[in-house]
Amino acid sequence: MRILVGITGGIAAYKSPQLVRLLRKAGHEVQCVATRHALQFVTPLTLETVSGRRLYADLFADGNDHTTEHISLKDWGEIMVVAPATANIIGKLAGGIADDALSALLLAFTGKPLYLAPAMNTQMWENPAVQRNLARLEADGVHIIPPASGSLACGTEGIGRMPEPEEIMEHLELKVENPTTQTNSQFPTTHSELPKVLVTAGPTYEKIDAVRFIGNYSSGKMGFALAEALAKKGFAVELVAGPTACRTTHPAIHRTDVESAREMYAAATALFPSCQAAILAAAVADYRPAQTADHKLKKQGDSGMTLELVQNPDILATLGQMKQKGQRLIGFALETDHEADNALAKLERKRLDYIILNSLRDEGSGFGVDTNRVTIFGSDGSRHTSPLLSKAEVAELIVARCLA
Ligand code: CTP
Repeated sequence: MRILVGITGGIAAYKSPQLVRLLRKAGHEVQCVATRHALQFVTPLTLETVSGRRLYADLFADGNDHTTEHISLKDWGEIMVVAPATANIIGKLAGGIADDALSALLLAFTGKPLYLAPAMNTQMWENPAVQRNLARLEADGVHIIPPASGSLACGTEGIGRMPEPEEIMEHLELKVENPTTQTNSQFPTTHSELPKVLVTAGPTYEKIDAVRFIGNYSSGKMGFALAEALAKKGFAVELVAGPTACRTTHPAIHRTDVESAREMYAAATALFPSCQAAILAAAVADYRPAQTADHKLKKQGDSGMTLELVQNPDILATLGQMKQKGQRLIGFALETDHEADNALAKLERKRLDYIILNSLRDEGSGFGVDTNRVTIFGSDGSRHTSPLLSKAEVAELIVARCLA
């Protein structure tokens, strides 16, 4: 295939030549297009060497083959990926601005698959303006490759890291040019065409200081069992996981690790528009400390300590607001009293299609254990109570009843 690779000015640009190299190795032709800031991080010589083609970085450069390079290149490319994509290029594309070679090409490149791999600092990623722009682009049919979590170049931990080039390759709808180089690929090439379901799992950790957090006993087992059950049924799964020891094995599961409720919120709201359904099994902390300290807080004499907490965003309720016709939303409820009434009220308030009630009263049900007994309430008035089952069996039951 003929692939356009856009590179913008973020530290992750050091990974772009590797992406180009992998694409070439798989038999594709690659044309690099870089912004002026991208060339602060990676040199034209590197990009031209790995792509084997002249770099396009300046609308008005003497060396351009045509006077309207961006128009000839939009015809040349069959698919385009911008990796890394900064908040700046995301904002420009969402706003229809073309003020350099890459942004002009992006505006001209319509009707063909376009992928963005955002990479930026966590606060920038979570900024409502960036999330708004991403939602708009997704609505326009642009594919967003979700950023990963981990340590960022600015010295902080969080969501915003560009996925590794191998992972980006897996997201692209590439026609196989050279089958022998594709045999190690984790995903079948049809992966991106499978109906996609978002799953949240595990607890969230809300940071108090450099060494302490507020958490809960969720093990993540129920959410991971759901991801496996969905993948076995032929769905592609976007699994957003809080801190957990659980592992995934199925190749159709794409996992994004997050730590806090706000990181989970950012990942889930970015992924939901491209999914047919979402099952939110995470035990999200309702509150987080109003302040966090980067150092370890010291004891203050003999006096006690008061932590001020502020409310976290409600991911499930937000997805309920975002839900479009045809999308299904499934939530969990963990109640200790007035169980059915509380669950049904939650179903309505958060605009859900189904709610799965976990009762802590049942022995063998709830956090940490391998079994569960659930009642599934549907917005159509249906109600089904399961016997005590393994979490894998409960997951299969939920998939069968809620996504049939
Ligand atoms: N949930 C969420 N975001 C939050 C809190 C909860 O997405 N900030 C989701 C959970 O993943 C679960 C559902 O909401 O699917 C129910 O969570 P639960 O804690 O039982 O209910 P709350 O909405 O927090 O309501 P309450 O505290 O009043 O019981």
